[in-house]
Amino acid sequence: MATYYSTRQYLLFLATVFGIISLGQCQEPGIVEDILPVVTRVGLTARLNCTVARMTSGTAVQWTFKNPRGDEIISIDKDIQVLNELKGGIKDFEVQTYDSVRGDRTTYQLVISRIRPEFHGTYECSITITGVIAEHWPRETGTITVLQAPTIRPGSTDSVKMLEKGSSSSLVCDAFGVPSPNITWVRSDGKLLPTGKAIFRGRTMPIAFADVDFSGVYKCVADNSIKPPAISLAQVYVAQEPTVRVLQDSVGQFANGQLKAKLDCIVQGYPTPSVEWMVYDGPRRRALTDSDKFDTTKQATDTQNLYNGEQWYTLTINYVQALDFRDYFCVGNNTYGEGVGKVTLFSTTECQGPLCYSMDVSPSGGSTKSFGFAHIWTVFTGPALCLIAFIKYRA
Ligand SMILES: *[C@@H]1O[C@H](CO)[C@@H](O)[C@H](O)[C@H]1NC(C)=O
Ligand SMILES: *[C@@H]1O[C@H](CO)[C@@H](O)[C@H](O)[C@H]1NC(C)=O
Ligand SMILES: *[C@@H]1O[C@H](CO)[C@@H](O)[C@H](O)[C@H]1NC(C)=O
Repeated sequence: MATYYSTRQYLLFLATVFGIISLGQCQEPGIVEDILPVVTRVGLTARLNCTVARMTSGTAVQWTFKNPRGDEIISIDKDIQVLNELKGGIKDFEVQTYDSVRGDRTTYQLVISRIRPEFHGTYECSITITGVIAEHWPRETGTITVLQAPTIRPGSTDSVKMLEKGSSSSLVCDAFGVPSPNITWVRSDGKLLPTGKAIFRGRTMPIAFADVDFSGVYKCVADNSIKPPAISLAQVYVAQEPTVRVLQDSVGQFANGQLKAKLDCIVQGYPTPSVEWMVYDGPRRRALTDSDKFDTTKQATDTQNLYNGEQWYTLTINYVQALDFRDYFCVGNNTYGEGVGKVTLFSTTECQGPLCYSMDVSPSGGSTKSFGFAHIWTVFTGPALCLIAFIKYRA
């Protein structure tokens, strides 16, 4: 009997405890589910669920946007508290409620239509209770992630960099995107980067001991897998004395006083060098100016054969005759110095077509340098060609 009573007392005690607990639960309003995070894109619709239970009079469900500039109350129950544009019959914000089947809980669903980048962030659902200070209101937060393709931040991204030879610096590429984009650097002309590699990953690419070779266009690509990636170009100039290369260091022509010879040089340097073609008269050099005899032209710079910053100059020598067989110098000049390239014009006997026979192939005197092998060659090929022609004629 004693056992019976004690068991009964024990059960009564348990029932009382549970009763008190469940009574307490029944009275206290609460948020009973986590708010699942939403990942979306611009233009789509996002929905955040706040499921509450045990709502009593004097309570309301409030959605708040945790704007970094300050909290913004979006809704109280179903009433929207912010500017709410109506477009095509759909409002920017709406709160829809769903009662559970058993009727013991209600979902306050915040619906945001036509998602804009600024809607990215944290949203808080709270149950406001009259007579209770805000700190004690039940609350839960959820997030909306608005995926965004990368965009370059022009203000903090380099587009032009001027460097002294031997100096050290860096190129910066800054981009925004959600998620935060990866930045890679490459060179537009496919050459290696100053780091010695083809690719650099990171926002800030170091440049140590700037060299002539570093001049050119660099490309930074910001990618976060949301298409399209963003691209920014940076032009790097390394101040340097001109370097000159020639397309052919010797050019041949047939000296009949009627043909042209073209001499080409490619000049690189920064600041952009001035370029002249020159010849030596004894120890003195003299610039060739445009005349009947000479044309100096600068070719279009967008030629495929040119690296960045290179310029192509051509000297055309008209009416080539023996006097013209000599060395020509392409001279580039800027504040850092001078660069020189040499092209030798020599005599040839190359002659195609019947016109050759009507030409005077003998040198007209005065030539010094190239008078030698080429002219001896002329002496032999002339009769040889005649012989071939003769044999053909006989056949
Ligand atoms: C939000 O609640 C509604 C209504 O109960 C439900 O149909 C929907 O699946 C919920 N969505 C999420 C993301 O929980
Ligand atoms: C950045 O690159 C790393 C390594 O390649 C990759 O795991 C990560 O997903 C990339 N991040 C983005 C946002 O694309
Ligand atoms: C090089 O250019 C400078 C001006 O930039 C000029 O003063 C100088 O005479 C030029 N030198 C030659 C060799 O042409």
